[in-house]
Amino acid sequence: MKTLYLNSNEKNSINTAAEILKNGGLVAIPTETVYGLAANALDGEAVRKIFIAKGRPQDNPLIVHVASLEEIEPLVEKVDPRVYALAEKYWPGPLTVIMKKSALVPDEVSAGLDTVAIRMPSHECAREIIEKSGLPLAAPSANASGKPSPTKASHVIEDLDGKIDAVVDGGESAVGVESTVVTLATDPPTLLRPGGITPEQLEEVLGAIQISPAVFEKLREGEKAESPGMKYKHYAPAAQVTIIKGSFENYKKFLLAHKETVCAVCFEGEGKYFEKYIEYGKENDDISQAHKIFDALREVDAIGCKKAFVRCPVSSGVGLAVYNRLLRSAAFRVIDLDIGIPVIGLTGQTGAGKTTVAAILAEKGCHIVDTDILARKAVENSEVIGMLCERFGGDIVKGGVLDRRELARRAFASSEGTSALSAITHPEITRLAIEEIHTAEKNGAKAAVVDAALLYDSPLVAVCDKNICVVADQKIRLERIMNRDSISETDAKLRINAQPPTEYYTEKSDIIINNNGEDIEEQIAELMG
Ligand code: TXA
Ligand code: MG
Repeated sequence: MKTLYLNSNEKNSINTAAEILKNGGLVAIPTETVYGLAANALDGEAVRKIFIAKGRPQDNPLIVHVASLEEIEPLVEKVDPRVYALAEKYWPGPLTVIMKKSALVPDEVSAGLDTVAIRMPSHECAREIIEKSGLPLAAPSANASGKPSPTKASHVIEDLDGKIDAVVDGGESAVGVESTVVTLATDPPTLLRPGGITPEQLEEVLGAIQISPAVFEKLREGEKAESPGMKYKHYAPAAQVTIIKGSFENYKKFLLAHKETVCAVCFEGEGKYFEKYIEYGKENDDISQAHKIFDALREVDAIGCKKAFVRCPVSSGVGLAVYNRLLRSAAFRVIDLDIGIPVIGLTGQTGAGKTTVAAILAEKGCHIVDTDILARKAVENSEVIGMLCERFGGDIVKGGVLDRRELARRAFASSEGTSALSAITHPEITRLAIEEIHTAEKNGAKAAVVDAALLYDSPLVAVCDKNICVVADQKIRLERIMNRDSISETDAKLRINAQPPTEYYTEKSDIIINNNGEDIEEQIAELMG
Protein backbone atom coordinates (compact mmCIF):
# COMPACT_ATOMS: atom_id res chain seq x y z
CA MET A 1 0.00 0.00 0.00
CA LYS A 2 1.14 3.53 -0.66
CA THR A 3 1.20 5.67 2.48
CA LEU A 4 -0.33 9.07 1.88
CA TYR A 5 1.64 12.00 3.32
CA LEU A 6 -0.62 14.76 4.60
CA ASN A 7 0.49 18.09 6.00
CA SER A 8 -1.67 19.38 8.83
CA ASN A 9 -1.34 22.92 7.46
CA GLU A 10 -3.07 22.00 4.25
CA LYS A 11 -6.78 22.54 4.20
CA ASN A 12 -7.97 19.14 3.20
CA SER A 13 -5.65 17.02 5.32
CA ILE A 14 -7.97 16.73 8.30
CA ASN A 15 -10.94 15.77 6.10
CA THR A 16 -8.91 13.19 4.23
CA ALA A 17 -7.60 11.66 7.46
CA ALA A 18 -11.11 11.55 8.95
CA GLU A 19 -12.51 9.87 5.84
CA ILE A 20 -9.82 7.16 5.90
CA LEU A 21 -10.57 6.50 9.57
CA LYS A 22 -14.32 6.31 8.98
CA ASN A 23 -13.62 3.73 6.28
CA GLY A 24 -11.67 1.50 8.66
CA GLY A 25 -8.17 2.64 7.64
CA LEU A 26 -5.06 3.51 9.63
CA VAL A 27 -3.74 7.07 9.99
CA ALA A 28 -0.71 8.18 11.99
CA ILE A 29 -1.61 11.41 13.75
CA PRO A 30 0.45 13.93 15.68
CA THR A 31 -0.22 14.33 19.39
CA GLU A 32 1.53 16.46 22.02
CA THR A 33 3.20 13.35 23.50
CA VAL A 34 4.23 11.21 20.51
CA TYR A 35 2.67 10.32 17.15
CA GLY A 36 -0.18 7.81 17.43
CA LEU A 37 -1.32 5.18 14.94
CA ALA A 38 -5.06 5.69 14.88
CA ALA A 39 -8.03 3.54 13.88
CA ASN A 40 -11.73 3.57 14.70
CA ALA A 41 -11.81 2.26 18.29
CA LEU A 42 -15.28 0.78 17.83
CA ASP A 43 -14.27 -1.32 14.82
CA GLY A 44 -12.44 -4.48 15.90
CA GLU A 45 -11.41 -5.23 12.32
CA ALA A 46 -9.75 -1.81 11.90
CA VAL A 47 -8.02 -2.11 15.28
CA ARG A 48 -6.59 -5.49 14.34
CA LYS A 49 -4.73 -3.81 11.46
CA ILE A 50 -2.86 -1.63 13.99
CA PHE A 51 -1.37 -4.73 15.60
CA ILE A 52 -0.30 -6.07 12.23
CA ALA A 53 1.25 -2.81 11.00
CA LYS A 54 3.27 -2.34 14.20
CA GLY A 55 4.09 -6.00 14.81
CA ARG A 56 2.59 -5.43 18.25
CA PRO A 57 2.05 -8.35 20.65
CA GLN A 58 -1.66 -9.27 20.78
CA ASP A 59 -1.88 -8.97 24.56
CA ASN A 60 -0.94 -5.29 24.69
CA PRO A 61 -4.06 -3.08 24.92
CA LEU A 62 -4.51 0.29 23.22
CA ILE A 63 -5.45 3.75 24.44
CA VAL A 64 -8.72 5.25 23.19
CA HIS A 65 -8.49 8.94 22.30
CA VAL A 66 -11.46 11.27 22.68
CA ALA A 67 -11.97 15.00 22.19
CA SER A 68 -14.66 15.62 24.83
CA LEU A 69 -15.85 14.21 28.16
CA GLU A 70 -19.24 13.21 26.72
CA GLU A 71 -17.54 10.68 24.49
CA ILE A 72 -16.30 8.72 27.51
CA GLU A 73 -19.64 7.65 28.93
CA PRO A 74 -20.51 4.97 26.36
CA LEU A 75 -17.02 3.48 26.60
CA VAL A 76 -17.02 2.70 30.33
CA GLU A 77 -19.18 0.88 32.85
CA LYS A 78 -19.60 4.07 34.83
CA VAL A 79 -17.63 7.31 34.68
CA ASP A 80 -15.62 7.46 37.89
CA PRO A 81 -16.19 10.94 39.39
CA ARG A 82 -12.43 11.27 39.86
CA VAL A 83 -12.11 11.40 36.06
CA TYR A 84 -13.91 14.75 36.06
CA ALA A 85 -11.55 16.07 38.70
CA LEU A 86 -8.53 14.87 36.72
CA ALA A 87 -9.98 16.25 33.49
CA GLU A 88 -10.53 19.61 35.08
CA LYS A 89 -6.80 19.96 35.74
CA TYR A 90 -4.99 17.85 33.14
CA TRP A 91 -7.21 17.32 30.11
CA PRO A 92 -6.71 17.86 27.31
CA GLY A 93 -3.13 16.72 27.92
CA PRO A 94 -0.64 13.90 28.46
CA LEU A 95 -2.69 11.76 30.84
CA THR A 96 -4.35 8.38 30.27
CA VAL A 97 -6.90 7.01 32.74
CA ILE A 98 -7.94 3.37 32.98
CA MET A 99 -11.46 2.39 33.99
CA LYS A 100 -13.77 -0.63 33.73
CA LYS A 101 -14.89 -0.84 30.09
CA SER A 102 -18.36 -1.15 28.59
CA ALA A 103 -19.42 -3.82 26.07
CA LEU A 104 -19.06 -1.25 23.28
CA VAL A 105 -15.26 -1.45 23.44
CA PRO A 106 -14.09 -4.36 21.28
CA ASP A 107 -11.76 -6.98 22.79
CA GLU A 108 -9.11 -6.01 20.24
CA VAL A 109 -8.74 -2.63 21.98
CA SER A 110 -8.57 -3.93 25.54
CA ALA A 111 -6.62 -7.06 24.58
CA GLY A 112 -9.13 -9.13 26.51
CA LEU A 113 -8.91 -7.11 29.75
CA ASP A 114 -12.09 -5.78 31.39
CA THR A 115 -10.69 -2.24 31.44
CA VAL A 116 -10.13 0.50 28.89
CA ALA A 117 -7.51 3.27 28.77
CA ILE A 118 -8.79 6.73 27.78
CA ARG A 119 -6.97 9.92 26.92
CA MET A 120 -7.94 13.36 25.66
CA PRO A 121 -5.00 14.77 23.68
CA SER A 122 -4.36 18.50 23.46
CA HIS A 123 -2.71 18.65 20.03
CA GLU A 124 -4.99 20.74 17.85
CA CYS A 125 -4.66 18.47 14.83
CA ALA A 126 -5.42 15.29 16.81
CA ARG A 127 -8.51 16.93 18.28
CA GLU A 128 -9.73 18.07 14.88
CA ILE A 129 -9.31 14.59 13.41
CA ILE A 130 -11.26 13.02 16.29
CA GLU A 131 -14.02 15.61 15.94
CA LYS A 132 -14.21 15.41 12.17
CA SER A 133 -14.38 11.62 12.14
CA GLY A 134 -16.89 11.61 14.99
CA LEU A 135 -15.11 8.53 16.37
CA PRO A 136 -13.13 7.56 19.44
CA LEU A 137 -9.70 6.62 18.10
CA ALA A 138 -7.62 3.71 19.32
CA ALA A 139 -3.99 4.75 18.95
CA PRO A 140 -0.75 3.29 20.21
CA SER A 141 2.49 5.09 19.49
CA ALA A 142 3.11 5.00 15.73
CA ASN A 143 6.43 3.13 15.81
CA ALA A 144 7.30 -0.42 14.85
CA SER A 145 6.87 -2.42 18.05
CA GLY A 146 10.04 -2.29 20.18
CA LYS A 147 11.51 0.81 18.50
CA PRO A 148 11.71 4.29 20.04
CA SER A 149 8.37 6.12 19.85
CA PRO A 150 8.00 8.65 17.01
CA THR A 151 8.06 12.35 17.78
CA LYS A 152 8.23 13.47 14.14
CA ALA A 153 6.35 12.39 11.01
CA SER A 154 9.68 11.27 9.53
CA HIS A 155 10.06 8.74 12.38
CA VAL A 156 6.67 7.26 11.48
CA ILE A 157 7.66 6.98 7.84
CA GLU A 158 10.94 5.28 8.83
CA ASP A 159 9.00 2.50 10.59
CA LEU A 160 5.63 2.24 8.86
CA ASP A 161 5.90 3.50 5.30
CA GLY A 162 3.83 1.25 3.04
CA LYS A 163 2.06 -0.36 5.99
CA ILE A 164 -0.50 2.34 6.84
CA ASP A 165 -2.92 4.45 4.82
CA ALA A 166 -1.65 7.89 5.78
CA VAL A 167 0.48 10.00 8.07
CA VAL A 168 -0.46 13.54 9.07
CA ASP A 169 2.58 15.73 9.68
CA GLY A 170 1.86 18.13 12.53
CA GLY A 171 5.43 19.01 13.48
CA GLU A 172 7.47 17.76 16.43
CA SER A 173 5.60 16.42 19.45
CA ALA A 174 5.99 18.98 22.22
CA VAL A 175 6.28 16.67 25.24
CA GLY A 176 8.28 13.93 23.54
CA VAL A 177 7.41 10.97 25.81
CA GLU A 178 4.10 9.13 26.02
CA SER A 179 1.31 10.03 28.40
CA THR A 180 1.18 9.17 32.09
CA VAL A 181 -0.97 6.05 32.55
CA VAL A 182 -2.92 5.74 35.80
CA THR A 183 -5.52 3.12 36.65
CA LEU A 184 -8.53 3.88 38.81
CA ALA A 185 -9.40 0.18 38.83
CA THR A 186 -7.14 -0.38 41.86
CA ASP A 187 -7.39 1.05 45.35
CA PRO A 188 -5.43 3.28 45.71
CA PRO A 189 -4.99 4.21 42.04
CA THR A 190 -1.77 2.89 40.47
CA LEU A 191 0.66 4.75 38.25
CA LEU A 192 1.47 2.27 35.49
CA ARG A 193 3.61 4.51 33.30
CA PRO A 194 5.19 7.87 34.17
CA GLY A 195 4.75 10.66 31.62
CA GLY A 196 4.08 14.36 31.23
CA ILE A 197 1.85 14.49 34.33
CA THR A 198 3.95 13.75 37.42
CA PRO A 199 2.98 11.50 40.37
CA GLU A 200 2.78 14.63 42.54
CA GLN A 201 0.31 16.22 40.13
CA LEU A 202 -1.83 13.06 40.22
CA GLU A 203 -1.76 13.01 44.01
CA GLU A 204 -3.05 16.59 44.13
CA VAL A 205 -6.30 15.25 42.72
CA LEU A 206 -6.38 11.59 43.72
CA GLY A 207 -4.70 11.59 47.12
CA ALA A 208 -2.12 8.87 47.70
CA ILE A 209 -1.38 6.69 44.68
CA GLN A 210 0.91 3.69 44.34
CA ILE A 211 3.61 3.30 41.73
CA SER A 212 3.72 0.00 39.91
CA PRO A 213 7.04 -1.80 40.60
CA ALA A 214 7.32 -2.37 36.83
CA VAL A 215 8.09 1.35 36.41
CA PHE A 216 11.68 0.99 37.63
CA GLU A 217 12.32 -2.73 37.88
CA LYS A 218 12.66 -5.53 35.45
CA LEU A 219 9.74 -7.93 35.70
CA ARG A 220 10.83 -11.29 37.00
CA GLU A 221 10.28 -14.21 34.69
CA GLY A 222 6.64 -15.31 34.75
CA GLU A 223 5.51 -12.21 36.70
CA LYS A 224 2.27 -10.64 35.46
CA ALA A 225 2.46 -7.09 34.13
CA GLU A 226 -0.26 -4.72 35.32
CA SER A 227 0.39 -2.73 32.19
CA PRO A 228 1.24 -5.29 29.51
CA GLY A 229 3.27 -2.74 27.54
CA MET A 230 5.85 -2.53 30.32
CA LYS A 231 7.04 -6.11 30.02
CA TYR A 232 8.58 -5.93 26.57
CA LYS A 233 12.00 -4.67 25.53
CA HIS A 234 10.98 -1.33 24.27
CA TYR A 235 12.02 2.03 22.92
CA ALA A 236 15.24 0.43 21.75
CA PRO A 237 17.44 1.37 18.82
CA ALA A 238 19.50 -1.38 17.20
CA ALA A 239 22.55 -0.14 19.12
CA GLN A 240 23.24 -1.34 22.64
CA VAL A 241 22.24 1.37 25.11
CA THR A 242 23.72 1.89 28.60
CA ILE A 243 22.66 4.59 31.07
CA ILE A 244 25.56 6.30 32.81
CA LYS A 245 25.01 7.95 36.19
CA GLY A 246 27.44 10.38 37.75
CA SER A 247 29.29 13.58 36.91
CA PHE A 248 30.09 14.68 33.37
CA GLU A 249 33.78 14.53 34.21
CA ASN A 250 33.53 10.82 35.05
CA TYR A 251 31.30 10.19 32.01
CA LYS A 252 33.80 11.81 29.70
CA LYS A 253 36.73 9.89 31.15
CA PHE A 254 34.84 6.61 30.87
CA LEU A 255 33.76 7.12 27.27
CA LEU A 256 37.19 8.25 26.14
CA ALA A 257 38.70 5.11 27.70
CA HIS A 258 36.88 2.97 25.13
CA LYS A 259 39.09 1.70 22.32
CA GLU A 260 36.20 1.34 19.89
CA THR A 261 34.05 4.23 18.67
CA VAL A 262 31.03 4.66 20.89
CA CYS A 263 28.26 7.21 20.75
CA ALA A 264 27.88 9.77 23.52
CA VAL A 265 24.24 10.66 24.13
CA CYS A 266 24.80 13.69 26.31
CA PHE A 267 23.52 17.17 27.10
CA GLU A 268 23.88 20.43 25.19
CA GLY A 269 27.46 21.66 24.98
CA GLU A 270 28.97 18.32 26.06
CA GLY A 271 29.25 16.64 22.67
CA LYS A 272 32.40 18.44 21.52
CA TYR A 273 34.66 16.11 23.50
CA PHE A 274 33.57 13.02 21.57
CA GLU A 275 34.08 11.71 18.06
CA LYS A 276 30.44 10.64 17.79
CA TYR A 277 27.74 12.28 19.83
CA ILE A 278 24.11 13.26 20.01
CA GLU A 279 22.92 15.90 22.41
CA TYR A 280 19.52 15.54 24.05
CA GLY A 281 18.32 18.59 25.93
CA LYS A 282 19.98 20.65 28.62
CA GLU A 283 21.49 19.28 31.81
CA ASN A 284 19.06 19.68 34.75
CA ASP A 285 16.18 20.42 32.38
CA ASP A 286 13.70 17.56 32.33
CA ILE A 287 11.41 19.16 29.76
CA SER A 288 14.07 19.61 27.08
CA GLN A 289 15.41 16.09 27.75
CA ALA A 290 11.95 14.53 27.31
CA HIS A 291 11.44 16.48 24.11
CA LYS A 292 14.57 15.09 22.45
CA ILE A 293 15.17 11.61 23.90
CA PHE A 294 13.39 9.43 21.33
CA ASP A 295 14.80 11.38 18.43
CA ALA A 296 18.28 10.98 19.95
CA LEU A 297 17.86 7.20 20.26
CA ARG A 298 16.91 6.99 16.59
CA GLU A 299 19.90 9.14 15.65
CA VAL A 300 22.26 6.62 17.28
CA ASP A 301 21.31 4.11 14.59
CA ALA A 302 21.32 6.75 11.87
CA ILE A 303 24.99 7.56 12.51
CA GLY A 304 25.76 3.85 12.61
CA CYS A 305 27.00 3.45 16.18
CA LYS A 306 26.77 0.04 17.83
CA LYS A 307 27.04 1.26 21.42
CA ALA A 308 25.49 4.31 23.03
CA PHE A 309 26.18 5.67 26.49
CA VAL A 310 23.39 7.92 27.67
CA ARG A 311 23.82 10.55 30.37
CA CYS A 312 21.30 9.90 33.11
CA PRO A 313 18.30 12.26 32.85
CA VAL A 314 16.96 14.46 35.65
CA SER A 315 15.23 12.30 38.28
CA SER A 316 12.18 14.49 38.85
CA GLY A 317 9.24 15.83 36.86
CA VAL A 318 8.94 14.38 33.38
CA GLY A 319 12.54 13.16 33.88
CA LEU A 320 11.01 10.17 35.65
CA ALA A 321 9.35 9.21 32.38
CA VAL A 322 12.57 9.71 30.43
CA TYR A 323 14.45 7.47 32.87
CA ASN A 324 11.70 4.83 32.71
CA ARG A 325 11.91 4.72 28.89
CA LEU A 326 15.70 4.69 28.90
CA LEU A 327 15.77 1.79 31.36
CA ARG A 328 13.82 -0.26 28.85
CA SER A 329 15.83 0.81 25.85
CA ALA A 330 18.95 -0.13 27.86
CA ALA A 331 17.46 -3.47 28.99
CA PHE A 332 18.03 -2.09 32.53
CA ARG A 333 21.79 -1.65 32.02
CA VAL A 334 22.89 1.19 34.30
CA ILE A 335 26.44 2.10 35.35
CA ASP A 336 27.02 4.52 38.22
CA LEU A 337 30.44 6.14 37.87
CA ASP A 338 30.31 8.12 41.11
CA ILE A 339 32.28 5.89 43.45
CA GLY A 340 32.96 6.90 47.05
CA ILE A 341 36.06 4.80 47.82
CA PRO A 342 39.50 4.84 46.18
CA VAL A 343 39.83 2.41 43.29
CA ILE A 344 43.22 0.93 42.47
CA GLY A 345 43.98 -0.76 39.18
CA LEU A 346 46.23 -3.80 39.43
CA THR A 347 47.83 -5.23 36.35
CA GLY A 348 50.87 -7.07 35.07
CA GLN A 349 52.01 -9.90 32.84
CA THR A 350 51.18 -13.50 33.53
CA GLY A 351 53.41 -14.94 36.24
CA ALA A 352 54.50 -11.52 37.51
CA GLY A 353 52.63 -11.98 40.80
CA LYS A 354 49.41 -9.97 40.56
CA THR A 355 47.58 -12.52 42.64
CA THR A 356 50.14 -12.36 45.44
CA VAL A 357 49.90 -8.57 45.54
CA ALA A 358 46.08 -8.76 45.46
CA ALA A 359 46.10 -11.12 48.45
CA ILE A 360 48.21 -8.71 50.49
CA LEU A 361 45.96 -5.77 49.59
CA ALA A 362 42.90 -7.84 50.56
CA GLU A 363 44.42 -8.43 53.99
CA LYS A 364 44.72 -4.68 54.38
CA GLY A 365 40.97 -4.16 53.91
CA CYS A 366 40.77 -3.73 50.14
CA HIS A 367 38.11 -5.53 48.16
CA ILE A 368 39.54 -7.36 45.14
CA VAL A 369 37.54 -7.32 41.92
CA ASP A 370 38.78 -10.30 39.95
CA THR A 371 37.96 -9.68 36.29
CA ASP A 372 38.73 -13.31 35.38
CA ILE A 373 35.85 -14.39 37.61
CA LEU A 374 33.65 -11.68 36.12
CA ALA A 375 34.49 -12.90 32.60
CA ARG A 376 32.93 -16.23 33.54
CA LYS A 377 29.94 -14.52 35.15
CA ALA A 378 29.40 -12.30 32.10
CA VAL A 379 28.55 -15.29 29.92
CA GLU A 380 25.73 -16.24 32.31
CA ASN A 381 23.80 -13.09 31.38
CA SER A 382 20.92 -14.00 29.06
CA GLU A 383 21.39 -10.97 26.82
CA VAL A 384 25.08 -11.77 26.43
CA ILE A 385 24.24 -15.42 25.66
CA GLY A 386 21.78 -14.20 23.02
CA MET A 387 24.47 -12.09 21.35
CA LEU A 388 26.97 -14.94 21.50
CA CYS A 389 24.47 -17.29 19.87
CA GLU A 390 23.85 -14.76 17.14
CA ARG A 391 27.56 -14.50 16.40
CA PHE A 392 28.80 -18.04 17.04
CA GLY A 393 25.70 -20.17 16.40
CA GLY A 394 22.71 -21.13 18.54
CA ASP A 395 24.14 -24.61 19.14
CA ILE A 396 26.73 -23.25 21.62
CA VAL A 397 23.84 -23.53 24.07
CA LYS A 398 23.07 -27.16 24.85
CA GLY A 399 20.12 -28.15 27.04
CA GLY A 400 19.75 -24.54 28.15
CA VAL A 401 23.41 -24.17 29.27
CA LEU A 402 26.20 -22.41 27.47
CA ASP A 403 28.96 -24.79 26.39
CA ARG A 404 31.93 -22.58 27.29
CA ARG A 405 34.47 -24.95 25.84
CA GLU A 406 32.72 -24.97 22.46
CA LEU A 407 32.37 -21.19 22.57
CA ALA A 408 36.10 -20.84 23.21
CA ARG A 409 36.89 -23.26 20.38
CA ARG A 410 34.87 -21.23 17.88
CA ALA A 411 35.86 -17.78 19.14
CA PHE A 412 39.60 -18.39 19.38
CA ALA A 413 39.72 -20.01 15.93
CA SER A 414 40.29 -16.60 14.32
CA SER A 415 41.31 -13.13 15.37
CA GLU A 416 37.90 -11.77 14.27
CA GLY A 417 36.24 -14.37 16.47
CA THR A 418 38.40 -13.38 19.40
CA SER A 419 37.60 -9.69 19.02
CA ALA A 420 33.90 -10.44 18.54
CA LEU A 421 33.91 -12.38 21.81
CA SER A 422 35.57 -9.45 23.59
CA ALA A 423 33.20 -6.92 22.06
CA ILE A 424 30.25 -8.92 23.37
CA THR A 425 31.55 -9.78 26.84
CA HIS A 426 33.65 -6.76 27.86
CA PRO A 427 30.78 -4.30 28.37
CA GLU A 428 29.17 -6.79 30.74
CA ILE A 429 32.46 -7.41 32.58
CA THR A 430 32.85 -3.65 32.98
CA ARG A 431 29.31 -3.27 34.29
CA LEU A 432 29.74 -6.16 36.74
CA ALA A 433 33.08 -4.80 37.99
CA ILE A 434 31.65 -1.36 38.73
CA GLU A 435 28.60 -2.91 40.38
CA GLU A 436 30.95 -4.98 42.58
CA ILE A 437 32.89 -1.84 43.56
CA HIS A 438 29.63 -0.21 44.71
CA THR A 439 28.74 -3.30 46.74
CA ALA A 440 32.20 -3.30 48.33
CA GLU A 441 31.75 0.36 49.22
CA LYS A 442 28.40 -0.41 50.88
CA ASN A 443 30.01 -3.25 52.81
CA GLY A 444 32.66 -0.95 54.22
CA ALA A 445 35.72 -1.81 52.10
CA LYS A 446 38.55 0.71 52.49
CA ALA A 447 39.32 0.61 48.78
CA ALA A 448 38.63 -1.54 45.76
CA VAL A 449 41.31 -3.16 43.65
CA VAL A 450 40.52 -4.00 40.03
CA ASP A 451 42.68 -6.96 39.08
CA ALA A 452 42.84 -7.02 35.26
CA ALA A 453 45.56 -8.35 32.98
CA LEU A 454 44.61 -5.95 30.19
CA LEU A 455 43.56 -3.02 32.37
CA TYR A 456 44.91 -0.45 29.92
CA ASP A 457 42.73 -1.79 27.13
CA SER A 458 39.64 -1.72 29.31
CA PRO A 459 37.36 1.24 30.04
CA LEU A 460 37.68 0.14 33.68
CA VAL A 461 40.91 2.11 33.76
CA ALA A 462 38.69 5.20 33.83
CA VAL A 463 37.37 4.39 37.31
CA CYS A 464 40.83 3.72 38.76
CA ASP A 465 42.44 6.53 40.77
CA LYS A 466 45.89 4.92 40.72
CA ASN A 467 47.35 1.99 38.84
CA ILE A 468 49.82 -0.54 40.11
CA CYS A 469 51.71 -2.95 37.92
CA VAL A 470 53.65 -5.93 39.10
CA VAL A 471 56.78 -6.80 37.12
CA ALA A 472 59.21 -9.71 37.11
CA ASP A 473 61.90 -10.89 34.73
CA GLN A 474 60.77 -13.13 31.91
CA LYS A 475 62.85 -16.08 33.17
CA ILE A 476 61.18 -15.96 36.56
CA ARG A 477 57.69 -15.57 35.08
CA LEU A 478 58.32 -18.53 32.82
CA GLU A 479 59.25 -20.78 35.76
CA ARG A 480 56.31 -19.57 37.81
CA ILE A 481 53.67 -20.34 35.21
CA MET A 482 55.23 -23.70 34.29
CA ASN A 483 55.00 -24.70 37.96
CA ARG A 484 51.67 -23.06 38.67
CA ASP A 485 49.78 -24.46 35.68
CA SER A 486 51.92 -27.59 35.05
CA ILE A 487 52.59 -26.68 31.42
CA SER A 488 55.57 -27.13 29.12
CA GLU A 489 58.12 -24.40 28.49
CA THR A 490 56.83 -24.03 24.91
CA ASP A 491 53.25 -23.46 26.09
CA ALA A 492 54.39 -21.08 28.80
CA LYS A 493 56.37 -19.08 26.23
CA LEU A 494 53.35 -18.94 23.94
CA ARG A 495 51.30 -17.40 26.72
CA ILE A 496 53.97 -14.90 27.60
CA ASN A 497 54.42 -13.87 23.97
CA ALA A 498 50.69 -13.38 23.55
CA GLN A 499 50.86 -10.51 26.06
CA PRO A 500 52.11 -6.99 25.50
CA PRO A 501 55.73 -6.18 26.47
CA THR A 502 56.69 -4.97 29.96
CA GLU A 503 56.75 -1.31 28.86
CA TYR A 504 53.07 -1.47 27.99
CA TYR A 505 52.42 -1.95 31.68
CA THR A 506 55.12 0.18 33.27
CA GLU A 507 54.65 3.29 31.10
CA LYS A 508 51.04 3.75 32.14
CA SER A 509 51.31 2.73 35.79
CA ASP A 510 51.69 5.07 38.75
CA ILE A 511 53.35 2.45 40.92
CA ILE A 512 55.61 -0.42 39.94
CA ILE A 513 56.12 -3.37 42.25
CA ASN A 514 59.16 -5.51 41.56
CA ASN A 515 58.63 -9.17 42.18
CA ASN A 516 61.88 -10.94 41.39
CA GLY A 517 62.22 -12.10 44.98
CA GLU A 518 62.14 -8.63 46.54
CA ASP A 519 60.03 -8.09 49.65
CA ILE A 520 56.58 -7.25 48.24
CA GLU A 521 55.01 -6.66 51.66
CA GLU A 522 57.51 -3.92 52.29
CA GLN A 523 56.90 -2.25 48.92
CA ILE A 524 53.15 -2.29 49.51
CA ALA A 525 53.47 -0.98 53.08
CA GLU A 526 55.53 1.88 51.67
CA LEU A 527 53.00 2.85 49.03
CA MET A 528 50.05 2.59 51.44
CA GLY A 529 51.88 5.04 53.70
O1 TXA B 1 0.97 9.40 24.80
C1 TXA B 1 0.47 8.32 24.56
O2 TXA B 1 -0.12 7.66 25.43
C2 TXA B 1 0.57 7.79 23.13
C3 TXA B 1 -0.19 8.73 22.23
C4 TXA B 1 -0.28 8.23 20.83
O3 TXA B 1 -1.44 8.96 22.77
N1 TXA B 1 0.09 6.46 23.05
C5 TXA B 1 0.78 5.39 23.56
O4 TXA B 1 0.18 4.17 23.36
O5 TXA B 1 1.82 5.50 24.13
P1 TXA B 1 0.95 2.81 23.54
O6 TXA B 1 0.02 1.78 23.02
O7 TXA B 1 2.28 2.87 22.91
O8 TXA B 1 1.05 2.60 25.08
C6 TXA B 1 -0.11 2.33 25.84
C7 TXA B 1 0.27 1.78 27.17
C8 TXA B 1 0.81 0.38 27.07
O9 TXA B 1 1.88 0.22 27.99
C9 TXA B 1 -0.39 -0.48 27.42
O10 TXA B 1 -0.01 -1.73 27.95
C10 TXA B 1 -1.07 0.39 28.45
O11 TXA B 1 -0.89 1.71 27.99
N2 TXA B 1 -2.53 0.10 28.51
C11 TXA B 1 -3.47 0.37 27.60
N3 TXA B 1 -4.67 -0.08 28.01
C12 TXA B 1 -4.49 -0.65 29.22
C13 TXA B 1 -5.34 -1.30 30.16
N4 TXA B 1 -6.62 -1.47 29.92
N5 TXA B 1 -4.78 -1.76 31.30
C14 TXA B 1 -3.45 -1.60 31.55
N6 TXA B 1 -2.61 -0.99 30.71
C15 TXA B 1 -3.11 -0.53 29.55
MG1 MG C 1 4.23 2.48 22.49
